[in-house]
Amino acid sequence: MKHLVIANWKMNPGSIEEALKLAKAEDISQAVIAPSTLHFLQVGKSLRRATLAAQDIDPITDPSGPYTGSVSAGMIKRAGARYVIIGHSERRTRLEESDERIAKKVEAAFLSGLTPILCVGEPLTVREKGYLAVREYIASQLATGLEYLQGKAGKIIIAYEPIWAISTNGAHGTDDPEGAGETIQYIKAFLSESMKQWAQFKVLGIYGGSINAQNVMPFMKERSIDGFLVGGASLKPKEFSKIVEICNQ
Ligand code: PGA
Repeated sequence: MKHLVIANWKMNPGSIEEALKLAKAEDISQAVIAPSTLHFLQVGKSLRRATLAAQDIDPITDPSGPYTGSVSAGMIKRAGARYVIIGHSERRTRLEESDERIAKKVEAAFLSGLTPILCVGEPLTVREKGYLAVREYIASQLATGLEYLQGKAGKIIIAYEPIWAISTNGAHGTDDPEGAGETIQYIKAFLSESMKQWAQFKVLGIYGGSINAQNVMPFMKERSIDGFLVGGASLKPKEFSKIVEICNQ
């Protein structure tokens, strides 16, 4: 089965020249590339095969208007993106993004025709309390993040990224594939149960947390995992291309 592989470049590389070079090296038809907001348009225009995604949007449903410094979801969609990452743990913690703001971004993405990739995942302190605590934490992020999808139907992607497993957090190691698979299975079950009265969504579950060409295989074999959000390894074209190749065998 083919898996979705999304390159989350974060605030990298530092210049448009480097970003265009990286885009050229990773322009593979099965890949999705999320460049920084500044490089988004030029990188998007340069892609021939890969799909474009945005790393964030503002929580604005108006297509245009008096919002100094903002970019609407509609603008991002018209510029060629299919997906947008929302609620990444780096934004939740370092940029103090609230659940309410995240929920509004999910709604804005959805209304503009972008597929939201809502990131959820627990910090180490929660993980240390055990799986029940992890599930409770994630259920709360899902319930608040998807609050404004009431009465709607479509597709959403949930990226499960345990914060302690993200490489740039000095990762304490990846999750074990089975554990990650079970958590994503739980996410899907939770959403199908909790949303069935008020919304109809096809839910894809992807995993992110220090995925690389060496460790991706056992995660890929987990039936509930539909793809990967790749950070650090997506800045290395050979590594990233290998991950895409493995995920499309
Ligand atoms: P990582 O990042 O692959 O470097 O762990 C994943 C992410 O933060 O999306």
